[in-house]
Amino acid sequence: MTSVSLFAGAYALADDAGSKAETPFTVEITGHQWWWSGRYLSNSESDRTFTTASEFHIPAGKEVRFQIRSADVMHGFWVPRVTESVDAVPGQVTETTIKVDEPGVYQGQCGVFCGAQHQNMKLSVVVDEPEDFEAWYDDQLKVPEPPEEGTEAAEGMKIFAATCSGCHAVRDTAAGGVYGPNLSHLMTRSTLGSGMLTNDSEGLARWIDNPQQIKPGCRMPDLGLDEQKIDKLVAYMETLD
Ligand code: CUA
Repeated sequence: MTSVSLFAGAYALADDAGSKAETPFTVEITGHQWWWSGRYLSNSESDRTFTTASEFHIPAGKEVRFQIRSADVMHGFWVPRVTESVDAVPGQVTETTIKVDEPGVYQGQCGVFCGAQHQNMKLSVVVDEPEDFEAWYDDQLKVPEPPEEGTEAAEGMKIFAATCSGCHAVRDTAAGGVYGPNLSHLMTRSTLGSGMLTNDSEGLARWIDNPQQIKPGCRMPDLGLDEQKIDKLVAYMETLD
């Protein structure tokens, strides 16, 4: 059985049986000051796991199990049209099941006061048609193609390894930091800094230049990079699609 048909298979089986759909995967959501990570875990194939941030896709009309955690203080996983605020408690796991029938983007916000940037701890649940969801899921599992030698993006990858990889991960590279968002498929997300900026070349350059100006107190420091280095980093980021 191919990995793609795993989902189709699981759904078809559940539909045929006319019973509640067997949950084919779990999303582990973790609240951090001040952003959200999400780890997708296939319930039957251990290699279909990946980590993303801030924007969490689910298939329309299917039940999905969410496990809510915290990396630091209390947060609330709150998406008003999808779920009431679910507490993210340090050292605990709070489980909830989410099912949304109507495709669309559902905006959310941290539901528990958690410090300086609580208001800016946004997230979204993106409800896709099941086939779009499967395509998204398969895409997130891919290894990003390394940039061609000699390009600005290749230079950026080297700067990233030296400067950013302690906090950020890119799938199947030496960058394995878990303190900040996983960037393997950064360009599939629409915002930066959990809703602070539009994720495009201008937004990337501004964020990398000085996150403290945009989200004061956030854990990413002003790295004091010059414009040339920022441009190279942006070029590399834009290959992570
Ligand atoms: Cu996290 Cu409020």
